[in-house]
Amino acid sequence: MPHGVGARFFEVCSSTNRLASDAALEGLQGPCWFIGGAQEAGRGRRGRAWTSEPGNLYASLLFRPSLKPADMAALPFICALAVRDTFIALGADADTVRCKWPNDVLISGKKASGILIESSARNADALDFVVIGIGMNLAHFPADALFPATSLATEIGQAVPVQDAASHLARILYDRLNAWNVADFAAIAREWTEVAWGLGCPVTLRTTGETFTGTPVRLEADGALLVTLDGGHEKRLYAGDVFPVNTAEQEGNEDASHH
Ligand code: BTN
Repeated sequence: MPHGVGARFFEVCSSTNRLASDAALEGLQGPCWFIGGAQEAGRGRRGRAWTSEPGNLYASLLFRPSLKPADMAALPFICALAVRDTFIALGADADTVRCKWPNDVLISGKKASGILIESSARNADALDFVVIGIGMNLAHFPADALFPATSLATEIGQAVPVQDAASHLARILYDRLNAWNVADFAAIAREWTEVAWGLGCPVTLRTTGETFTGTPVRLEADGALLVTLDGGHEKRLYAGDVFPVNTAEQEGNEDASHH
């Protein structure tokens, strides 16, 4: 772990995000990583479950940035870039590792990582704590995922120990968080855009209660995805999922899906 960063390991736990936020509520200052060998109640984005058998990385970082909630726009992209760097450090071919809005990381077009950021604010002007939860498919992946999935082992033909992934990730994310200039969203947006998946081509977009086709154009300064709709109108997306157009109809069974 980088100097000054704590770490707590659990062979099996409910959810490392849960442990991290419980510890924060009990007063732990952090920064501190919570790393689980397996999770019994792994949380995904948008209320989904995250399948968490042994062999993959399940890790959450608790920290207390002196920032306003509104300053957080770049954080999902910083985290996704850090996970991308980690896959590359572990042997993935850089050209194959791409970031999918809002904060997934794909290898060869398939989801290899998911990130769930949860935060608690004292008020509109001050965050209390932030938990960055990261799942990296090192050894296996769910066959029935919402978005087609893969693992690092499948892509590079080699097993990677969880500890190696954890130590690379901790170092890389530490460096990226320290380098973060909250006033310069554009710098992060530029970097993310260079390695983004699905920009400039038609995709299926799903937000709460709505599924439509559009072409993602760019990231806006508040982290929204600017999309051009078929009729030429523009729309800003603040939450949702992006799919290739031809998997558009895998609707309706979100709760039974994992990633
Ligand atoms: C997603 O839906 O894509 C986000 C998945 C995030 C999973 C990670 S695994 C470690 C941490 N603990 C959790 O319960 N969830 C996150």
